[in-house]
Amino acid sequence: MNSKLVHEVCLSENYDGRPWNEFIKLRNMGMKKGITMNDGAEWKELRSWSVRALRSVGFAKETMMELIMEEMTLIVEKLANGGVQQIRSAFAPGVINVLWMLITGRKPSENLPRLQKFLNLMERRAENFDLTGGVLVAFPWLRYIAPEMSGYNFLVKLNDELKSFLMDTINEHKERYVEGNEADFIDLFLQEMYNNVEEKRDKISVFSDNNLLVTLLDFFIAGISTTTATLDNLFLQMANQQDVQRKLHEEIDAVIGSDRLPQLEDKIKMPFTEAILTECQRLFHIIPVIGPRRVLKDTILGNYKVPKNTTVLMNMYSNNMDPDFFPDPTSFRPERHINEKGVYHQHENIILFGKGKRRCPGEALAKSATFLFFVGVMQKFQLLPEPGKGSIQTEPIGGIIHGPKPYEMLIVPR
Ligand code: HEM
Repeated sequence: MNSKLVHEVCLSENYDGRPWNEFIKLRNMGMKKGITMNDGAEWKELRSWSVRALRSVGFAKETMMELIMEEMTLIVEKLANGGVQQIRSAFAPGVINVLWMLITGRKPSENLPRLQKFLNLMERRAENFDLTGGVLVAFPWLRYIAPEMSGYNFLVKLNDELKSFLMDTINEHKERYVEGNEADFIDLFLQEMYNNVEEKRDKISVFSDNNLLVTLLDFFIAGISTTTATLDNLFLQMANQQDVQRKLHEEIDAVIGSDRLPQLEDKIKMPFTEAILTECQRLFHIIPVIGPRRVLKDTILGNYKVPKNTTVLMNMYSNNMDPDFFPDPTSFRPERHINEKGVYHQHENIILFGKGKRRCPGEALAKSATFLFFVGVMQKFQLLPEPGKGSIQTEPIGGIIHGPKPYEMLIVPR
């Protein structure tokens, strides 16, 4: 599908539906709830409410900023000795902790074993989804004749564990809930739930346990591996592109210096840094095929008749690598996102977080976390490929999210 058609699908409400197949049923614990795989009036209401709620508990809050600063300091401490290391293991826990705090309001350090259990579950789930989910979509009947061998039973068991884990977290919030004292996403949801019982007794509300459960799952699935893969690509690219890294260091030194941690307010004064972030996302398109769309009524797309309920998939490669918009598209050139006045400028054709009504609701959060963690590390270190090994391989691992294959690099304190 060419770039024009990709934009048409993203921007027309006729493509805002989501399919409901065996893979998606498993992903959603059998419930057409939450945001990512829901559609219609319930999706619209829940989504727009969630965007507002994320903003209100988000990075503007002092406690959140404090946590980010703590996490940044921890990452820098872990890397402080330098040498050859896998940078991912230093920053990945920070990404999870920030999302965890935003949604549950609890500092990760308050209950580390609990967070660890959650992470194990999410990891095992992601691994088995890529392996088994695909097979079950191709041959859905396998779950009846070989529920053990096809991996179906295992995924159902993991889902049950995850569900009971998330329900425990929700129930804990219910027990501690004090009206007027809402501090995190779950609290805000409960506030709506309780208000709705009082005021709209006769209406079926979107603020139900099941919608909260699947929305939490949506946030963790959509937020953790995407942000981690984005940072992983950024660090890898800096090690491979020493000239770009040098210019980045100059900008960091001029705007922030070395005596304080980066802040979100610095971003506007750092066009080259922003251009690196955008160029990295463009070139590596970590979600090569963005969320599937279900067509809501018979329509025409380009030269094709598309009947109602058809699933439409969009390949981001054809869009973000279109040479008409991004000359020499396979080259890493941050400068293409800076205009003649030296100001950062995002090309209107680029798609990094989707477009239209299904655009990523976590965009602001992901951009803020990525900027702070990236600049926090780059302020203190120079990154290089492992001595004697040449550039680090950029080929991605397969699956729904395309992050780089695990790699090590030489980390040198500045
Ligand atoms: C660098 C990190 C991220 C990238 C690149 C990214 C990208 C995307 C993309 C391309 C979509 C699909 C849009 C479509 O179907 O057209 C999406 C959807 C979504 N993202 Fe993100 N995302 C990121 C981080 C996050 C975070 C941190 C959260 C949660 C707080 C999040 C929550 C979601 C949700 C819930 C959806 C589904 C929206 C809907 O169907 O209405 N994402 N994201």
